[in-house]
Amino acid sequence: MRCWRLIIITASVALFTEFACAQVVSFGQRIFHEKADCQFCHGVDGDGRGDPRSPGRASDLHKTFLTREQLIDVIACGRPATQMPHFDKYAYEDRCGGFSAAELGKDVPPDPHSTSLNRREIEAVADYILAVFKGK
Ligand code: HEC
Repeated sequence: MRCWRLIIITASVALFTEFACAQVVSFGQRIFHEKADCQFCHGVDGDGRGDPRSPGRASDLHKTFLTREQLIDVIACGRPATQMPHFDKYAYEDRCGGFSAAELGKDVPPDPHSTSLNRREIEAVADYILAVFKGK
């Protein structure tokens, strides 16, 4: 009897984890495609083929080597001297590597054309890239 109970508990935990992961991924998906409009530059399939009018040459996210932490960092801070925007509103006040907008001058990553994101949203979109694009 005790063993059955354990099996049922384990199965419920597994189901719940699966459900929770799927929730995070679909939250990230909505941010990528709608709220933050990453697809404008990175393409609907994340392959870097966004709208032909999108600025810069956006990376093919299937080929990224970045870890979760590094993805979060690029999304929050953007990439200096490129068109990759910073999605953390306060990125260049104090948060990104200690650089301020004044120090970076013209190299400061642009503001997003869509909207900035909070930490939870940035993590969700990074998890979406890991689950759906990276290495696939
Ligand atoms: C205005 C166009 C634009 C938008 C919008 C944009 N990106 Fe980018 N992104 C770029 C460009 C250009 C690069 C390449 C920078 C470089 O040359 O290193 C890049 C690079 C990246 C990288 C680094 C990949 C690697 O392996 O080095 C990640 C991750 C990324 N973008 C994610 C996102 C996410 C997530 C969003 C939406 C929240 C987004 N980008 C929105 C233009 C954009």
